[in-house]
Amino acid sequence: MAERPFYVTTPIYYVSSVPHVGHAYTSIAADALARFHRTRGPTYFLTGTDEHGQKVAQAAAAAGMTPQTWTDQLVEQWKGLCRRYNVEYDDFIRTTEPRHSDAVVLFFERLKERGDVYLGKYEGWYCTNDETFWLEAKLVDGRCPNPECRREVQWLSEDNWFFALSKYRDRLLEYYRANPQWVRPERSYNEMVATLEGGLEDLCISRVNLEWGVPLPGGGVMYVWLDALLNYITALGWATGDEKFATFWPARVQLIGKEIARFHTIIWPAMLWALDLPAPETVFAHGWITIDGEKMSKSKGNVIEPFAAAERFGADSVRYFLMREAPFGTDFSISLEKIRKRHNTDLGNDLGNLARRSLAMLERYRGGIVPAYSGTSEIASRFADLPARVAARFEALDLRGALEDTWELIAALNRAIDDRRPWELAKRGEDAALDAILYDLCEGLRWCAHLLAPFMPVKAAEMYATLGTGDELGGDWRTDLVWGKLAAGTRARPAEAGLFPRIEDEPPAPAA
Ligand code: MSP
Repeated sequence: MAERPFYVTTPIYYVSSVPHVGHAYTSIAADALARFHRTRGPTYFLTGTDEHGQKVAQAAAAAGMTPQTWTDQLVEQWKGLCRRYNVEYDDFIRTTEPRHSDAVVLFFERLKERGDVYLGKYEGWYCTNDETFWLEAKLVDGRCPNPECRREVQWLSEDNWFFALSKYRDRLLEYYRANPQWVRPERSYNEMVATLEGGLEDLCISRVNLEWGVPLPGGGVMYVWLDALLNYITALGWATGDEKFATFWPARVQLIGKEIARFHTIIWPAMLWALDLPAPETVFAHGWITIDGEKMSKSKGNVIEPFAAAERFGADSVRYFLMREAPFGTDFSISLEKIRKRHNTDLGNDLGNLARRSLAMLERYRGGIVPAYSGTSEIASRFADLPARVAARFEALDLRGALEDTWELIAALNRAIDDRRPWELAKRGEDAALDAILYDLCEGLRWCAHLLAPFMPVKAAEMYATLGTGDELGGDWRTDLVWGKLAAGTRARPAEAGLFPRIEDEPPAPAA
């Protein structure tokens, strides 16, 4: 049966500041998923920037710029981050674009027609950092209750629009019970069920005294979170009846960080239902990256700067590290030293040396020409189901698992060199055995290139090119990853430089 088209999204990032490695993490994970799914069928990958709201307006004011000039400048950094890490999105949406803001107004009008909004007075607190309304009873020591934030909050007393969120509570609970996989991992699912069981209040959805946002008929601007959440459908052309919307909605996977789960798994489905649209198939709330166990923050000075990291280690090494270091979904702690170690060991020693040794031996013993496949191979039988296993990991959003499975093949190929000792076979003139190991190595490398391409698109393509097949990566594993497909007579060429040159420890900075 044909698979349903794959639509994957990242959160749209606030342009109140420049990106750090945490933002790159979500985008890289979404890119890996999109790259895998593109080998199988229609795929659409959306990312973008959240440009309205008080937080962005304040950042612009602090820089002495209008919000529009500020966001126009900053968005380049966010697009640049994608370019630097080869995050190949199909669309990048900015909430200041008319295709988005016009659709936000339409959404508001639909809510009104349906009787899902009403005018009321909002009296309560507001946290600008989280762009969240908080009732008095929820505050902790008079501050924002979000443990990651705990900033001062601002008192609001405004006549605003409200969305009748509470009326969706029972339907949400039923939906959660009927679809235990729709919010993942389980930690977020359980938290959200507990939130719903605790009761749901209507949501204030406008800011009458703000100017930087989507203007609503009758005054005020749309609350930034409703504005932002709608990006996932406005980019597909929901408001204009675009075919993309019919093809790709509901999203198969929406990736977010766990801190914004409530918006995506309570407010967002209710908004969609208010329009008679289906909720996304899966919202996956991944964990948080910390630096040596601490929250990354500019004031602590411990931010890992993604452009500098790509410069030092290479974009693909950082991508690999982030996907390999921890199970997707959990929190984990990173450091530059950990990235360096994985680069040198997993990539340099395991994969890079495998490629270098294999192609050097093919050159030495067979003039770089791939021998014929004998039709049987112990490695081939052992790993016949590997592509299906790795594909299942992608389906399960187990990105680390996909890499671990692939590393089993890499380890087996390295062991085969040590065990079967091609140099001795050559000395003894055991041609059939020598051809067999050389074929295993080349074919194994071809498989690795395919399986690793979603994670390391540039290095995988380089590796693939050295095999000399003349075509490009990106084909369907189900037809391309059949052992024996690498044609006899293919002219491979040894890699000129190692794929992953060793990175030495940085010398300590001279004392000031
Ligand atoms: N603009 C909102 C999202 C609106 S979506 C409709 C927002 N923006 S944000 O700039 O703060 O980005 C938050 C997202 O960036 C997180 O949900 C996560 O995807 C990613 N991360 C930011 N810091 C991170 C870590 N330290 N670790 C892992 N992911 C992080 O919230």
